[in-house]
This record gives sequence, C-alpha cells and structure tokens, in this order.
Amino acid sequence: MHSSTLLTLLATGTTSLAYTIPANLQAIYNAHKAGTCSKPLSGTSSSGAVFCADIPNAIFLKGSNGNYDNMDVDCDGADDKAGDCSNDPTGYGETAFKDTVQTYGISDLNANIHPYVVVNEPPYFDAEHYGLKPLSVMAVVCNNQVWYGIWGDTNTEPTTGEASISLAQLCFPNEGLNGDFGHGTKDVLYIGFLGDNTVPGKTGAKWNAKNVSDFEASIKAMGDRLVQGLGSNNGGGGTNPPPPTCSWAGHCIGASCGSDDDCSDDYVCSSGKCAANGSGGTTPPPPPPTCSWAGHCIGASCGSDDDCSDDYVCKSATQNCI
Ligand SMILES: *[C@@H]1O[C@H](CO)[C@@H](O)[C@H](O)[C@H]1NC(C)=O
Ligand SMILES: *[C@@H]1O[C@H](CO)[C@@H](O)[C@H](O)[C@H]1NC(C)=O
Repeated sequence: MHSSTLLTLLATGTTSLAYTIPANLQAIYNAHKAGTCSKPLSGTSSSGAVFCADIPNAIFLKGSNGNYDNMDVDCDGADDKAGDCSNDPTGYGETAFKDTVQTYGISDLNANIHPYVVVNEPPYFDAEHYGLKPLSVMAVVCNNQVWYGIWGDTNTEPTTGEASISLAQLCFPNEGLNGDFGHGTKDVLYIGFLGDNTVPGKTGAKWNAKNVSDFEASIKAMGDRLVQGLGSNNGGGGTNPPPPTCSWAGHCIGASCGSDDDCSDDYVCSSGKCAANGSGGTTPPPPPPTCSWAGHCIGASCGSDDDCSDDYVCKSATQNCI
C-alpha cells in the first residue's frame, strides 16, 4: 500500500471516532475564552481557573484571560495501575461514587475505560450545591473536538482540570499522556450541565463496556442533547437577550427544578420550573373586552339591544351582547 493512502486511512479512522464540535458549542468556546469569569462560583485553583456560571444552565472551568484549564491525568478506580497508569504517583484505588456505580453492575469506574472528569467537593468547591449531579454527563472541548465524560470522581484540593486517562487520551492521542504526564496548555473547556435528565443512570450508559469507545458511544446521544440545550445563548454578550438573572445563576425563573430548594431567592418550583411565589403558574384572566360603554361590550348580559354598547345587539337566545 502506498504510504499516503495508509496515512489517509489512519486519519479517516481517527476522524470518525472524534466528535466534531457543534456550532453552538464552538460559539460558546470562542465567546468565553477571552476575558475573565463574571460570575465566579469558587476561588482560583492552583492552575488559575475558577468554576464559573457565565454559561446559562451550566458550570464550567474558566481560566484567566485567554485560558480555560489544563488536563491532569487521573487513574483512580478499578485496575488503577493498568495500561498507561502504571506510573501514576497518586493512584488511589477507588472513585467517589463507587457505591452508586456498584448498583450499575460494576465494581468501580475504570480510568482506562470510563471517560470521567474530576470535579471538586468541599472545602474548595461544592459542585453539588450548585446543582451538578454525581455521574452526570459532562462535555469536554479539547483539541478542536468535543468528547463526553461523566462526573466520576472528586477532589477536595483547590486543583482543577483533571480527567481519567481514557478521556485524556481521547482528547490528546498524540501527546504521550500517562499517569504522571498530563496536558499542560490551558485550552480545555470542561462543562457540567444543570437541570434535569443529565444523569444516564443504570440503564442509560454501557457501564460494563470493555473499552472507552464503547462507553463513549453509549453517552453520545445524551451529551449531544445537553449541548444542544445550551442553545446559542452563550452569555457572551452577543446578540441574544440575556438569560433571566437572579442571585443564584441557573436557578432563576424558568429553570428546571425538583423542589423549591432548587430555585433562587423566593422562587418556588412549580410544574418542574422555578416560578415567582404566588403566581402558582396560572395565567391571569384576560382583560374584559373594551367598547365605548364599559360593561356593555360583546359578551355582556342584556335584556334588549339598548343594553348593548355601540352597534351591538342583544342576542335573545343567550341574552348576550354580540
Ligand atoms: C470495544 O469493545 C467492543 C465490544 O466488546 C468491540 O466490538 C469493539 O471492537 C471494541 N473497540 C475497540 C476500539 O477496541
Ligand atoms: C410562598 O408564599 C407562601 C404564602 O405567602 C408562603 O407561606 C411560602 O413560605 C412561600 N414560599 C417560599 C418558597 O417563599
């Protein structure tokens, strides 16, 4: 085989596995790279990033002007010294939501198979408090592609930008990443999704997959839907109207909720959406029809035509002005 043909085949094979970034996500990536986070939810991490609420219905890691975050490699979980994790200096034999994934039929997440993202827990940052759900699908924009991962492990330290070895190698297959060597450039956008239907649960993902491609394929549809749900309203000051604002971003009127606790300020959870208390989700009655003789317009009750305004007549069958 001619070598350029082989190269073409190799390149094609890689391309078919990678996920092209949807236009709205590319717009979001571009819009937030410059500048700094206007709604930070955390202090600055050791890599210079903050958890940021500038994208409606999402939480993402935003670095300083021009940056997102780097990608450190995590090997925790089942088989934590396997493959390119053999030299991991910090390997810890389990992941944070091990008890839950055991109910999904596996002993623990496996960093070589499950593309997971590490998101912080207190004291540095409490992701769950801000509505991110354990084992929810996340999007990672890296190397001009998007890959989906799950929130699969936590970290109490003020360090951010960390993904399992399988996700790191999907992102950067040619950088020789391993348990002791990550991607240093701060160009990786990690997005967690708020709201409902972000967690695949026991049956929504192939937890017992034997390789990362198989697992990725099982969460792609959910990831695509969540990215689509971000819309093109990226909060970047473009032409779109700003999202509703309140003291807890992403939990304002109209946001998805399970209970009143999911809604900012005095808002209540009504039919799955945050709403102002007292409105009860009901629409006010329409204003009465107007005409030159108030109270004698179309629909008003009448005994004769003289009871009806203007040229209206009294319909005898119903005794209403028409
Ligand atoms: C991943 O596993 C599936 C099912 O076992 C198999 O069909 C597929 O060829 C594997 N893919 C890779 C890239 O090894
Ligand atoms: C909503 O209003 C009612 C009646 O004023 C009040 O009892 C209730 O505590 C309010 N709920 C919230 C979440 O503010």
